[in-house]
Amino acid sequence: MSKRFYLTTAIDYVNGQPHLGHAYEKVITDVIARARRSMGEEAFFLTGLDEHGQKVQQAALAEGKNPQAYCDELSESWKSLTQTLGLTNNDFIRTTDTRHREVVQAILTKLNNEGHFYQSTYTGFYSASAETFLTEKDRLPDGTFDPSYGTVVELSEDNYYFRLKPHQQWLIDFIESNPDFIEPTYRRNEVLGFLKNEELEDLCISRPAARLSWGIPIPFAPEYVTYVWFDALVNYISAPAGRGDPVVNTALGLGTGSGPEASLWPADVHVIGKDILKFHAVYWPIMLKAMGLPLPKKILVHGWWQKDGQKMSKSTGVGVDPVAVINEWGLDAFRFYVVRELAIGPDGNWTDAGFQSRYSAELANGLGNLVNRSLSMLKRYRAGVIPAQSNELAPDAERVVQKTIAHLADNELQAALHDIWELVNRANQYVDQTAPFKIAKDPAQAARLDEVLYNLCEVCRILAVLLSPFLPVTSPKIYQQLGLPESPDTFDLAKWGGLQAGHTIGEPAALFPRKDVPKP
Ligand code: ME8
Ligand code: MG
Repeated sequence: MSKRFYLTTAIDYVNGQPHLGHAYEKVITDVIARARRSMGEEAFFLTGLDEHGQKVQQAALAEGKNPQAYCDELSESWKSLTQTLGLTNNDFIRTTDTRHREVVQAILTKLNNEGHFYQSTYTGFYSASAETFLTEKDRLPDGTFDPSYGTVVELSEDNYYFRLKPHQQWLIDFIESNPDFIEPTYRRNEVLGFLKNEELEDLCISRPAARLSWGIPIPFAPEYVTYVWFDALVNYISAPAGRGDPVVNTALGLGTGSGPEASLWPADVHVIGKDILKFHAVYWPIMLKAMGLPLPKKILVHGWWQKDGQKMSKSTGVGVDPVAVINEWGLDAFRFYVVRELAIGPDGNWTDAGFQSRYSAELANGLGNLVNRSLSMLKRYRAGVIPAQSNELAPDAERVVQKTIAHLADNELQAALHDIWELVNRANQYVDQTAPFKIAKDPAQAARLDEVLYNLCEVCRILAVLLSPFLPVTSPKIYQQLGLPESPDTFDLAKWGGLQAGHTIGEPAALFPRKDVPKP
């Protein structure tokens, strides 16, 4: 059983409805997963929900529900979002799953037996909404805590702590000798800067059940539940463990059950947002090292979206509802915009005008128009029958195929779309230069028209193959309109010359209907 390419998203807090930021992260991860499969790799894509902790307990309480019932209800709308976004995730983990709880408890027992934890009393200020203890450093000049911490209370608590200090130096060394471990580079530098300039504080991994009952009980101290982040990070290995992953189960001393079904660990890519970098680049590697497990290959850190230059927030009503956008414009329009607009790394800004302008320029007038006029002309002038192979655009196509696959292998999704649109634009320009609608009127130029039509249809076919990870609705539609029965989801099909002379295409139809957008 060979190891699969294993990639994950952050698991979202279940205390609300999904928004643009959540949808973005899941879409880019799905594009990477589909791209890997198109490259011929077996990719395993995990996503899911983070259901424990104070935030969720409070949200449930506010609705007068017990937390489990609250999570069960909301998890349905999150699961249905994976469908709406066209995600090809292979599993969906909830931290309230039994399979997850058992692994968290096994890890706690193991690390406790091996002396990684100690008990200590802490007195200080605590923010429930941030799930964190605050120190004097967190005070504003006027002595108060930032309002984003919500209500801050003073607590004196006995808790369990995870010794982090002994791990500081090897982690620095590891990050320095593995330049691809954290991407982009400026995020890696941020982590290194932090690790080199501050001494790591031990991590409090318990919460007294008397104060917070909604969590995984600590097996050796049942009057405590597990700190939500220690619980949540484990999802990346609890899903593989439940599937009999040999690496995880051997390290944790768990059985392989009905026999190993999947070899996944170590993860190839953890996709996360910039706000949770420290948890993934500091705590998680240390947890893994303590467990005796190899570290993930890469932490890929994306930026945050704003709407019209403002932070999205429920209370101010500033936001983008991905489901509403998809209902109005279609799934591929949404996926295209978020990937094309924002590279993985910097922050982005959603504007409706920007969205509509990309839709009409790049999708409707660019790709849609190319496919529609190419296929329509073949119908009109050649009764939909593919002429003899011609290789005029083959060098352009081959160059773009190469660049696109190279960028996808580096998770540079925006750059890959850039490459693909070079071919879209080249082919649209070719239509203007060769003017098939003119030469169609001249019987002496029949052979030339054959060449032009072959080149155009073949470019459309190759575009469908390259776009398959990005546009899972449109790309099969192009294949269908070309009358091709197979699915365009492998890059092996991106070789020039796939369309055979004499093949009859299907019916052309608009891929991206033009929309009259009312002027504001
Ligand atoms: O942090 N733009 O969950 P979460 C882009 N449960 N990405 C955004 C965003 C925005 N405006 N807002 C949020 C958690 N995100 C934990 C994760 S993982 C073991 C546990 C991203 O629901 C955010 O950066 O607050 C994170 O990667 C993901 O959405 C979930 O955020
Ligand atoms: Mg958050």
